[in-house]
This record gives sequence, C-alpha cells and structure tokens, in this order.
Amino acid sequence: MKFKKKLTVSYFRKKKENGEKIVALTAYDAPTAKLAEECGVELILVGDSLAMTALGYTNTLPLTLEQSLHHCSAVRRGANYSFIVGDMPFMTYQISIEQAMGNAAKYLKDAGVDAVKLEGGAKNAPAIERLVEAGIPVMGHIGLLPQSLLTSGGYKIAGKTEEDAVRLIDDAKTLENAGAFCVVLECMPAEVSKRVTEAVSIPTIGIGAGSDCDGQIQVTNDILGLFTDFVPKHSKRYANLGEEIKKAFLAYASEVGESKFPTDKHSF
Ligand code: KIV
Repeated sequence: MKFKKKLTVSYFRKKKENGEKIVALTAYDAPTAKLAEECGVELILVGDSLAMTALGYTNTLPLTLEQSLHHCSAVRRGANYSFIVGDMPFMTYQISIEQAMGNAAKYLKDAGVDAVKLEGGAKNAPAIERLVEAGIPVMGHIGLLPQSLLTSGGYKIAGKTEEDAVRLIDDAKTLENAGAFCVVLECMPAEVSKRVTEAVSIPTIGIGAGSDCDGQIQVTNDILGLFTDFVPKHSKRYANLGEEIKKAFLAYASEVGESKFPTDKHSF
C-alpha cells in the first residue's frame, strides 16, 4: 500500500474518531523506512532506541542530538509520505524551554521530520505548549520511561497501583491540553491503557499496553528478530532475520574461503 499524500496530525486524529487503528514502527535508516512506508506503516518513530538497536549502547542515555538527527534525516530520505517523528534524546529538552525549542527546531528544519517526541508526563507540559505554539507537533510518552532508567531503578511496568493509574490518566490529559497530537503508552496494564485511551481525544499508541490503544508501535529490530538475545514480552517476532543474516554470512565466508565466490559470472 502506498499513501497518496503526506500524512499529517489531523490524519491521526481522524483515525481515532473513526475507531481505526494506527500502525507505527521504529526505523533508523532509509531502506527500512522505505519498506515500512511501502507496507503502509503510517507513523515511523526514529526512537532513541537507536542507541541500543544500531549504535551498540546498553541503554538510551548516551544518544546525542547529532546522532539522532543524522538518523532522522536518513529515515526522511527513505519515506516521503509516512509521518516521521524524531525522538529527542535524554537531556536535549529537559534543561529549559529554550533548549527544547532550539533542539526541536533542528528536527523539523535540519532533519525534515514531522514531529518530535518528548518522554515524560505533566512536567513536560510547559515545553510542549511552547513547541506547539511555535508550530512543532509533539508526541508525548508516558508509562515506562527508558530515559528515567537511573531514577526509577530499572525498566518497570507502570500503572500497577490505582494511584499510579490515576497519575497516568492525569498525565495524558495534561499532555493533550498542552497540545500533544498523540501519546505513546509504554508498558502498563491493558486495563489502565484502556482508561487512558478513553480519557483523551488524542490517539494513544501502545507498546506493551494492550489492544485497546488507538494504535500500536513496536521496535522494528524486535519484530524482525534482529535483536537475538531474547524476545521482549510485549513484542512478537514476525521474521527471524538475525538467523537469516547469520546463514548468509556463513555461506559467504565459506565460499570465499573455498574460492567458490566469485565465479566467472561475478567477474569482469
Ligand atoms: O525509542 C523508542 O523506540 C521508543 C518506543 C519504544 C516507543 O520510544
């Protein structure tokens, strides 16, 4: 499926109004973005998961603004119509509203993406208000917050108590009032994400948050089997590319070792 025109924030709002699910994935390079767009992926997030999926870090904290922008530009070159969101790295928007404004502007002006994502709830509302006022669409992100790994003491499921569930609902409403066009709900009980989804008119995009969200997002490397250590509980392997790549590399290595490649067919 190919989109006929570039998707915008109003496209996603309409999808929620019509009860249609939003399909989102992460991507970090142009060829993957191109394939995702060709397959009808409506929203492509250049997640700060880039740090772990492609750059070899053990968590998302070390990712720099420059690294993120570099990959955002590549994704933009790969996909013309899908809506592309750049995920602002740790400490590139928390210091001040001016810092958030200046850095977010680079995502739209330099990398050409359509929106930015900021991790966190109500505390981001003042920055989100200013960004949206300035014309920068913002995606919120609540629930499990990987950028808060050190203060939360690990990757923990959010919203397990009634108090936490109510805080998540309030956070989502605050983000909506601040002007966020949608919100990611990461790793929370399905019953809680259902309540959040019903409480706001902006779309909710879940990852590990059950089936009642308005859309779903997954880390592409997880669903393709490119991350081979384990399958996260919230994910599903739709392909086993890690194994396929290994088979191809082994075959290539053995053919080169045994002088079976290249043949005359591959020579000039
Ligand atoms: O960085 C990322 O990939 C994300 C998704 C998990 C939503 O934030």
